[in-house]
Amino acid sequence: MCGIVGYVGQRDSIDVLMNGLSRLEYRGYDSAGVAVIGEDGTLSTRKRAGKLAVLAEDVAESPVPQSSTGIGHTRWATHGGPTDDNAHPHLSADGKLALIHNGIIENFAAIRDELLAEGYTFASETDTEAAAILLGREYEKTGDLRAAFRRVVGRLEGAFTLLAVHQDEPDLVVGARQNSPLVIGLGEGENFLGSDVAAFVEFTRYALAIGEGQMVAITPEGVEVTDFEGNPVESTPFEVQWDASAADKGGWSSFMAKEISEEPEAVANTVRGRVGDDGLVHIPELEGLDELFGTISRVVVVACGTASYAGMVGKYAIEKWTKLPVEVALSHEFRYSDPVIDEHTLVVSISQSGETMDTLMAVKYAAAHGAKTLSICNTQGATIPRESDAVVYTHAGPEVAVASTKAFVAQITALYLFGLHLARVRGTLSEQALAENIAQLQSVPDKIAEVLTQQDEIAQLAHWMSDSRAVLFLGRHVGYPIALEGALKLKELAYIHAEGFAAGELKHGPIALIEPGQPVFVVVPSPRGSQTMHAKVVSNIQEIRARGAKIIAIAEEGDVAVLPFADTVVRVPLAAPLFEPLLAVIPTQIFAMELATAKGLDVDQPRNLAKSVTVE
Ligand code: F6R
Repeated sequence: MCGIVGYVGQRDSIDVLMNGLSRLEYRGYDSAGVAVIGEDGTLSTRKRAGKLAVLAEDVAESPVPQSSTGIGHTRWATHGGPTDDNAHPHLSADGKLALIHNGIIENFAAIRDELLAEGYTFASETDTEAAAILLGREYEKTGDLRAAFRRVVGRLEGAFTLLAVHQDEPDLVVGARQNSPLVIGLGEGENFLGSDVAAFVEFTRYALAIGEGQMVAITPEGVEVTDFEGNPVESTPFEVQWDASAADKGGWSSFMAKEISEEPEAVANTVRGRVGDDGLVHIPELEGLDELFGTISRVVVVACGTASYAGMVGKYAIEKWTKLPVEVALSHEFRYSDPVIDEHTLVVSISQSGETMDTLMAVKYAAAHGAKTLSICNTQGATIPRESDAVVYTHAGPEVAVASTKAFVAQITALYLFGLHLARVRGTLSEQALAENIAQLQSVPDKIAEVLTQQDEIAQLAHWMSDSRAVLFLGRHVGYPIALEGALKLKELAYIHAEGFAAGELKHGPIALIEPGQPVFVVVPSPRGSQTMHAKVVSNIQEIRARGAKIIAIAEEGDVAVLPFADTVVRVPLAAPLFEPLLAVIPTQIFAMELATAKGLDVDQPRNLAKSVTVE
């Protein structure tokens, strides 16, 4: 979500900034901009909606002055659509200071109101501009960019990386980081800042990590890292192990690998800003809809592929928490099934791209037949949210790899937030239960990060299994959609025949597929949720093991009941049963990616597929 680059040194900064932005474009590409302090001592900016190429054309037609200090930004819109005005950098009221931002400033509305009351005006709809104008105001008071910046970052809530320059301090770029990435590149007589090392690896492979809640000031001569109070802190230098050619994916071997690594952030960013001071879920986008939510009598989820499996997971939670019946329909089947819908039906569409034609047509059909429509979407301003009565955005950041990973966990997260919002409005859960569930959701990012530490072991398993001709996946309850999703990932990435089944369905036919050596992944539910369900799955494992299946169990830490029957156990941290899918899906994604890699396949662009399916 947004790429950031900063430079101070002897080169012409525009070259460094444009190079860095081109390497960070995967982070967002709906607008881009730069600000440089020219040798004449004035600040110049260029910013344009559209891809980086549009900005590059603009800079070529109307060059910025020669300069040795500057900042650049490539945007993935959160607050305000992708327009020239909303593009970064944003300026202070006097136009002498420029600021760029990655993240979401949660308390921007309060800051904006304060500044409006003081007579300041705003040119954009972004949260960022509030910080830029505030920084300008503090600079007027202090005449010192470092001091003014400290005052501002101390006031901001949410997730942010900020960089700023001021024309009266021409050899200085200041930056701050909170829950959003920023690294320093160390050069000789020059220094760099970037969302990741890709931004500057062409110029230096020596870097310095900055921790959460820290600030940095770079000049041509040096780098100062402090906490938000200005106390110096130690930071760890490191040498980048790869060269610029690998940097296009932020240093990852594939966009998919990068996106899997971003799953903790995808969940955290989707929750951010949606929990009120009372500790309960209040989705700001759904404000004013309480009356509508009080009148609905059922929910129908429409989606395709991975998004539909997120919907199947969401069904269990929404039904449990709201007592509303929830049906999940594949978008392309929905409107041909003569569905029973009326004004008391809420049709929830799930789409990462927001452009999937099947889902768009289902939403239009639902609206035309009187239903209310809500979209869960990862792409600001896409068609499906525009066609819907309400939207809850997932904040997973741009997903480039064709196979969906981080968007899936963000979709489940958004559905759970929606379920908890609805349960609060309809009074179907006690405050204690609402608070306990949101606490569970908030603990998920750290738990996913723990699962990710097993990447090497799962990669090894995938290498051993790379000759498999077919792989089966089993699960019960919320584990069932995870079995379906695990199978889909393997099919689309590794071109291996894979099927997901509800474990209870096995004896009704699919068990005939089991032959000696057949690999079967089993998503094992926690015994803490239901002893009976756990025992049944362990029995299912024994039944197929007796017929020669090789079992790979995905089970919670401490579940010893699976040990005698599993060939391999992949552990996930303890979580309340409804939250287990957010953890159990991760090993299946890594497995599919690693097995495809072992077969020498392109995991980002599997054959015959496209990221956004815009035909029915
Ligand atoms: C599979 C995958 C697809 C999408 C489906 C819907 O990895 O990505 O199954 O989930 O095409 O796409 P969106 O969410 O854009 O509507």
